[in-house]
Amino acid sequence: MSSTDQNQTVSPKAEPEAAPDPIHHGPETNDSPPAKSSGWAVFLFFMIGFAGSLLSGWILFPELLYSKKSQPIDFNHALHLDEVSDGCESCHYFRDDGSFSGMPDLGSCIDCHEEAQSDDPEEIKFVDEYVTPGIEVPWLNHSKQPDCVFFSHSAHVMGADMSCESCHGDIGTSEHTRVYEENKLTGYSRDIWGHSISRLGKPEAGTPRPMKMNDCAKCHEEETGHKGACFQCHK
Ligand code: HEC
Ligand code: HEC
Ligand code: HEC
Ligand code: HEC
Ligand code: HEC
Repeated sequence: MSSTDQNQTVSPKAEPEAAPDPIHHGPETNDSPPAKSSGWAVFLFFMIGFAGSLLSGWILFPELLYSKKSQPIDFNHALHLDEVSDGCESCHYFRDDGSFSGMPDLGSCIDCHEEAQSDDPEEIKFVDEYVTPGIEVPWLNHSKQPDCVFFSHSAHVMGADMSCESCHGDIGTSEHTRVYEENKLTGYSRDIWGHSISRLGKPEAGTPRPMKMNDCAKCHEEETGHKGACFQCHK
């Protein structure tokens, strides 16, 4: 069987003499593939390879690149915005010296959560594991920049009058914390790159803005006419 196959590919026209076995002798062994179809085969192979590398680069690679972690407690922004009196500032505020409080500490929660008020398992966990022993919740920060980057909330919110949503998206309407995805190579949050590695198409409305160096610089150029010096953003 295999010897006939070899003969077919090497010289199909010599088949009748080379292969005396009458069983494998048939008219169909004579038709050699037309030259045109090999061009198509090359093209097809190229497209399969090309699509394969796009898929692995855009889908498989990010899948492997990021490790997933959950916040220590599921926090509901929408529910809390109905409960507090000062909106976002009830928990994220500017101190008198202009510095930003950032992630809330237990002091922002204690007035209402000294004791669990419901049988919500997340609230019970929050009270038992953090409030009662006085341990701060180790919240994961999706926007965290590398240590070499200097970012000032007051320059943007107080100085340039920007809304929280313009950078962070609609977090105030979220009912659950998002899964935190950490880049295994750099240790940075996935939000810095933004969700799509390709950066094709428009980001979904309400999602946080990607914050790579060029993203910061692009807005600075639009707003101020220049990208700024390195030392503006680097310590
Ligand atoms: C009752 C307190 C409370 C209020 C009010 C509140 N937050 Fe938060 N916020 C939190 C807590 C707790 C976290 C940490 C858990 C999390 O990421 O959801 C957080 C996290 C955040 C983060 C960080 C997300 C990240 O990891 O990058 C942003 C941005 C944010 N809040 C914006 C807002 C905005 C905008 C508002 C008003 C619309 C608001 N918050 C109102 C408690 C609050
Ligand atoms: C103004 C009062 C108030 C403040 C301040 C407040 N909460 Fe709540 N919180 C509530 C109420 C009301 C509920 C819903 C009923 C319940 O579970 O007690 C709730 C529910 C929760 C729950 C369970 C539901 C969920 O979100 O998954 C968690 C966890 C929680 N709060 C965490 C916090 C944290 C962390 C802070 C501080 C950053 C905080 N709360 C600040 C009033 C408050
Ligand atoms: C110009 C874009 C921009 C605006 C506007 C903005 N943020 Fe941020 N936010 C960031 C960046 C960038 C970080 C990460 C800073 C870092 O890691 O040094 C961040 C971090 C945070 C964090 C995590 C804790 C921290 O301080 O790193 C919270 C909470 C937060 N922002 C809430 C808010 C709230 C609330 C507002 C509106 C009052 C707001 N942000 C407005 C870009 C912005
Ligand atoms: C959507 C627009 C926008 C984005 C995104 C943005 N900025 Fe800005 N930034 C501004 C504006 C507007 C100002 C105020 C400019 C001024 O006052 O001259 C500013 C001011 C600053 C300043 C203060 C400059 C000074 O010397 O007073 C720093 C530092 C800064 N931005 C860093 C960053 C970093 C780092 C990022 C990315 C993580 C970033 N910004 C993203 C708009 C933006
Ligand atoms: C508008 C603010 C801004 C300016 C101006 C800026 N950078 Fe950056 N740079 C960033 C931010 C934000 C990051 C982190 C996000 C990223 O990796 O893109 C970064 C990252 C970097 C990194 C990689 C560091 C790391 O740990 O990943 C280098 C190197 C760097 N910048 C050099 C420079 C140099 C050199 C200049 C001047 C020509 C400059 N930057 C100007 C905001 C800025």
